[in-house]
Amino acid sequence: MLVENPSVVDNPLRAGLSETRTVAPCIMVIFGATGDLTQRKLLPALYSLAADQPPLPANFTVVGVARRPWSDEEFRQYAEDGVKEFARQPYDPALWETFAKGISYCQVEFDDDAAYRTLTEKLTQLDQERGTNGNRIFYLATPPRYYDDIVQRLGAAGAVERTTTGPSFSRLIVEKPFGHDRESAMRLNAELNQVFKEDQIYRIDHYLGKETVQNILVLRFGNGIFEPIWTREYIDHVQITVAESIGVEGRGGYYEEAGTLRDMVQNHMLQLTTLVAMEPPAGFAANLVRDEKVKVLHAIMPMSIDEVAECTVRGQYGPGWIGSQEVPGYREEKGVAPNSPTDTFVAAKIAIDNWRWAGVPFYLRTGKRLPKRISEVAIQFKRPPFSLFRNTGADELQPNILSMRIQPNEGIALKFGVKAPGQAMHIRTMNMEFLYGSSFGGEPPEAYERLLLDCMVGDSTLFTRRDETEAAWELVDAIEAGWQTEPDANPVELYDPGTWGPRRAEEFIERDGRSWRRL
Ligand SMILES: NC(=O)c1ccc[n+]([C@@H]2O[C@H](COP(=O)([O-])OP(=O)(O)OC[C@H]3O[C@@H](n4cnc5c(N)ncnc54)[C@H](OP(=O)(O)O)[C@@H]3O)[C@@H](O)[C@H]2O)c1
Repeated sequence: MLVENPSVVDNPLRAGLSETRTVAPCIMVIFGATGDLTQRKLLPALYSLAADQPPLPANFTVVGVARRPWSDEEFRQYAEDGVKEFARQPYDPALWETFAKGISYCQVEFDDDAAYRTLTEKLTQLDQERGTNGNRIFYLATPPRYYDDIVQRLGAAGAVERTTTGPSFSRLIVEKPFGHDRESAMRLNAELNQVFKEDQIYRIDHYLGKETVQNILVLRFGNGIFEPIWTREYIDHVQITVAESIGVEGRGGYYEEAGTLRDMVQNHMLQLTTLVAMEPPAGFAANLVRDEKVKVLHAIMPMSIDEVAECTVRGQYGPGWIGSQEVPGYREEKGVAPNSPTDTFVAAKIAIDNWRWAGVPFYLRTGKRLPKRISEVAIQFKRPPFSLFRNTGADELQPNILSMRIQPNEGIALKFGVKAPGQAMHIRTMNMEFLYGSSFGGEPPEAYERLLLDCMVGDSTLFTRRDETEAAWELVDAIEAGWQTEPDANPVELYDPGTWGPRRAEEFIERDGRSWRRL
């Protein structure tokens, strides 16, 4: 007898990434509310969600928390300026008025216990005034050294319900960087877990909120043609590029402690790697997806010191010119030591030791002051096994490449050879291209919009789980250890601004008979 499969919706294991996204009224408490992230990303994203269809509930509430003695009015003005300048949805005075009614400010010095008690009383009062039922999302948009302190004091003030099954919810969103290495990430996890259960913690990596990043899953698992060839038999290698044209832009102090390896590779680059490499999950429930991503990280062996010398390159941008503009070198930036060894460019070759990917290198490169701002994942396929065209003057066939552009101009392109019209056999490489902008019109939602909404509805699929974060740090720690132990095997090489990084980055991939994509 045939047993009917339970539908996706009926089976909680297979739920997640679903259409039904009803937001319960809640308060979002933003720590670091007077900061850059809040003004440029968080408040504009919340406003755009309020302007979306369906909109956020009209009683959605925001409490900004920071040190300076602002009034509600001053904070609302700051928020309004941010919305006008940065929100995806156009500014609408009537909508703003409704939205702004739910915004208030609470001055808290992060080490002042009494202030947390005042904040908690304010939240209880707002619950009554605005009908938010005790539902709270705490967003840590502060310098990371405060994360633990804020959470402990919130817990002590009784602001958090440590449960996922109560009548109301408490959730915590934590910004990157999450720890400085594996040990500090584990310590932070343990500290946060004293106040919030793991299922209440949402570690944000905004890359996962980008449309094209989610589209990697749809492309792979929603189409019949790609997955069968998504293996070592057909794929030669994978290249992941996250390039920025800007320098550290006043964040030299932070960058001195982080460097590109910690700032970009530990999170965005490894997240992209896991999405490209993971096995199909049994469903899109958060833990099923994250289980598969963690397995990829566990299949990447931490590099030995010799492997670090062989498989990584680090660089730092020097002073120079971009077009007609003179730009400082990293060591001349504010807050940076004049002899700083910090990496602003990293290239790495990663081996995923499992059945699907054995022998298929993943080349990662990321850096600042590169020629353009561009992020993409490119799958380079193997050449045909036999060149029929070898005697036609067309035997230099280019390999097929499937590239997924994450920013800017989100889209997907497939490169393949075609015969150029004419009597002779000339083969030209052409692109079959899909662009989000021209296909769907309008701008896709900002990554933060997607992720904030996910947290409001309790969907943690696109947030990193505790074990994922720790596994990613283990890989990064091994590279950092190699650099520290044998600094001369892998010196920080200066590169000119506006170039694709140090010379060694080219040599490193050319040794394998491959080259970086020209982007
Ligand atoms: N900016 C971005 O684009 C971006 C992107 C990704 C991740 N992040 C992460 O997001 C976090 C915030 O970044 P940001 O650029 O917004 O930082 P920021 O502009 O320096 O803002 C820091 C915020 O923390 C508050 N603060 C600092 N010390 C405090 C204290 N002792 N007591 C009370 N409030 C205090 C500041 O309040 P006062 O102004 O009142 O002192 C301010 O609101 C960081 O972890 C960063 O790594 C930022």
